[in-house]
Amino acid sequence: MITKWTEALSCCNPDIDRQHSELITHFVHFINSHGSSSKEQIKEILSFLHNYVVEHFALEETLMEQNGYPLLEVHTSQHREFIESMKKIVDEFKGDHDVTKLGKGIGEMYNWFLNHIPEEDKKMGLFLQGALKKTAKTASRTALQTETIFQWNQSLSCFEINIDKEHKELVNHFYQYQRSESGEAVENTMEILTFLRDYIHRHFQREEKLMEKYNYPAQEHHKKAHHDYVEVYKNLLEQYQKNSDFSYIENGVHSMFDWFIHHISEEDVMLGFYLKNSVTNVKTTKEVIIYSDNKEETSLLETFFSNLGFKNVNVYENEVDLRKAVKKDNAFLATISTNTEQKHDFLYLKELRFFLETIPVLFLLNSHNKNVLNSAFSDMNFKIPKKIIEVRPKPLWEIIPKLHDLLFEFNKGSTQLPV
Ligand SMILES: [Fe+2]
Ligand SMILES: [Fe+2]
Ligand SMILES: [Fe+2]
Repeated sequence: MITKWTEALSCCNPDIDRQHSELITHFVHFINSHGSSSKEQIKEILSFLHNYVVEHFALEETLMEQNGYPLLEVHTSQHREFIESMKKIVDEFKGDHDVTKLGKGIGEMYNWFLNHIPEEDKKMGLFLQGALKKTAKTASRTALQTETIFQWNQSLSCFEINIDKEHKELVNHFYQYQRSESGEAVENTMEILTFLRDYIHRHFQREEKLMEKYNYPAQEHHKKAHHDYVEVYKNLLEQYQKNSDFSYIENGVHSMFDWFIHHISEEDVMLGFYLKNSVTNVKTTKEVIIYSDNKEETSLLETFFSNLGFKNVNVYENEVDLRKAVKKDNAFLATISTNTEQKHDFLYLKELRFFLETIPVLFLLNSHNKNVLNSAFSDMNFKIPKKIIEVRPKPLWEIIPKLHDLLFEFNKGSTQLPV
């Protein structure tokens, strides 16, 4: 059972995420404690849960409505069903006082809720992300006038020439739409939007074929992201065809564009990395050594490297074993420094210096810790060799271009993808 909110449940909206996290905590608390609680306590926490759920759904529904979310109706009706089922469970308990039955019922509601987040809330959140940015821009006229056009940049590259080509093509078409956004060329607009819908669909299918052909480990997750995108886009166009209200679709398309860029940088860059290296032996022969004192970060790194196709990913918790492991010449170290404050004593620095001199290191730390580290090393008269140091917090996939360089150095041979 999931007992804590994690990054994997994020809907890209801090308010919604915070409420989900709170709700998870309260559900789990109820599930764990109802057996030993008095009837009064049970009633109290039930009414709290109920009110919180109502408040949470209201927030989501307001945001969906204000921003023209195309799946508003489906989503809202799921919320209604949830509240009704919850009410039924609570009413039954008021009649029969059967605590076991109540616990089972609330457990089922909790499972529904955990399922609803990645199934429905996530795509709503991804859509809202772009719509909310657009609203913020429109609020300030000067900002709107000086809005710079999004430029393709290297951080969006997937290292795979055909995928990149199609992404650029799609970005260009979104611009074409923006140019016709004045409202005059409505027919033309519809044409561009329909073209985009079909092109995106074909593009996703091509990506999915590559995932299957090369056994991409995160393909299920990636395909789900495509599916959600296509579903929302399709509904957006259908609503527009019914309404023909230009202002209605404007925010929607802006959202779809933003979401698309988000998808490239979050999902496609990882896929491209996997494909690009899938013909080299790097990922099967090199060992990834993971070292962190934080369990959550450790498992994040483990999943990250496994999804990228590394076969030999090992976590070291014991410093003695770690010291032995970094002496192997086929390994590189991925390490996260979470709380360096107390660790920045001389011993830790000596240890770190040893790693940095011995092995390629992918070192993730926040900017404060980076400064502390740099000045400590300069006191020791030690210049950090050309290692990869990234500043956290930052989504992990943003290190992929650097990771790519690191592996390229390991493997100065061909990195051609035979597709
Ligand atoms: Fe939600
Ligand atoms: Fe929801
Ligand atoms: Fe994709």
